[in-house]
Amino acid sequence: MTPPAEASRKDLIAALDIGSTKVTCVIAQGEGAEGMRVVGIGTYRSSGLRHGVVVDMDATETAVSNAVDAAEQMAGTRISRVILGVSGSQIRAHRLNAEVSVAGHAIQAADVVRVIDSASAALREAEDRAGIDSVPIHRIPVGFAVDGGAGVKDPTGMFGENLSVDILLATAAPGPVRNIETAIQRCHLGIESLVVTAYASGLSCLVDDERDLGVTVVDMGGGTTSVAVFVEGYVVHVGVLPIGGQHVTNDIARGLSTPVASAERLKTLYGHAMHAPSADRELLDVPLIGEDEDGQTNQVPRSMLTQIIRPRLEETFELVRDHLETAGLFSAAGRRVVLTGGASQLNGARDVAAEILQRQVRLGRPLGLKGMPDAAAGPGFAACAGLLRYGMMGVPFDRGLDRFRRPFANPDAGAPRAPRATSRLGRLGQWFKQNF
Ligand SMILES: Nc1ncnc2c1ncn2[C@@H]1O[C@H](COP(=O)(O)OP(=O)(O)OP(=O)(O)O)[C@@H](O)[C@H]1O
Ligand SMILES: [Mg+2]
Repeated sequence: MTPPAEASRKDLIAALDIGSTKVTCVIAQGEGAEGMRVVGIGTYRSSGLRHGVVVDMDATETAVSNAVDAAEQMAGTRISRVILGVSGSQIRAHRLNAEVSVAGHAIQAADVVRVIDSASAALREAEDRAGIDSVPIHRIPVGFAVDGGAGVKDPTGMFGENLSVDILLATAAPGPVRNIETAIQRCHLGIESLVVTAYASGLSCLVDDERDLGVTVVDMGGGTTSVAVFVEGYVVHVGVLPIGGQHVTNDIARGLSTPVASAERLKTLYGHAMHAPSADRELLDVPLIGEDEDGQTNQVPRSMLTQIIRPRLEETFELVRDHLETAGLFSAAGRRVVLTGGASQLNGARDVAAEILQRQVRLGRPLGLKGMPDAAAGPGFAACAGLLRYGMMGVPFDRGLDRFRRPFANPDAGAPRAPRATSRLGRLGQWFKQNF
């Protein structure tokens, strides 16, 4: 049910992934039926987030504006709005079913919107009754039924009395969404869509057969590990766990009494999650905390890194398994797992995942994105590439969710965004206006 109009965009599409370790902005030129071509990319170290949630607004704003500036410079153009990735541990997925009467007439798009709206309204009522506040992020139909006949992919044009929809509704906690939106607003950018990053990673790394047969994408980031489950071509679940590559780095720093920067270096250069006998004999020089660069170092066998790394990875995949079991999806989620995200590059991660999840595991990276520089073709850029793909293809009905948003407490939050400055000087002007 992808509308061809959106699938053939010819304008600029900009994606912004605000991760716990890096902020990435990618700008692509839509080329109609030919897809799209990346024309600009900027990435900047992120220090304002913890587990995918903004904890330092100024640092987040700086990282966003630097990443966007770099992408704009490379593209030789400016952007005014972005498709924004959302993660953070307060993403919730709800599977609902709703039904409306169509009184025997041919089902039209308006009936489909009606049944989807009724599912969104039902969730909102249930949350209101339970005193839960949330922001709707996605509503993705997973299948329709006409008069009880399930498995309908597109009901428009069919005749029947009742139309029902099985739908995935994804929501997020209002605070984190509001903070991230404010950071974007402060950079004078608008938001075209909000997209859960694990879902985006699935859009960029999976092949159609995987999505059809059932697959779980595990995006292993710095501060989060997010999952998205695809079955019969649809995303049926998304979730985010507050654990990531930074935990492994911190474990190494603590375990070896070494600075975090040196722990990160040791992890990426020598880290392995699987034990190899030769690693007992190989000695690594480990700088000690508090010593200057050519100060005292410790010599430790490389196998010690494995002893530190492996338990954390085991814990991560056990949490993924528990999360899928709680969602009732562990057996439904297919025989395959695709690992992506920067932390999936840790040597041996794939073997630990296969052991704990008992699945066939492969490593995923963004597929088929023209013009993506080699440096950004790795698994750490899967989410950003997927945000672009989401923008290119669109998901019918996954729009207009603002009607189901409860207003934020601050009435200014809904105010129209300031126009984005058209030049660096203009932006400086806006800064002066806002600050004096
Ligand atoms: N070669 C490598 N080997 C092991 N780990 C790596 C490697 N390269 C990057 N990482 C780890 O990947 C993590 C960052 O991944 P990524 O860029 O996907 O995170 P992010 O999107 O910024 O964060 P999040 O998605 O959690 O908000 C870091 O913890 C980093 O240590
Ligand atoms: Mg990420």
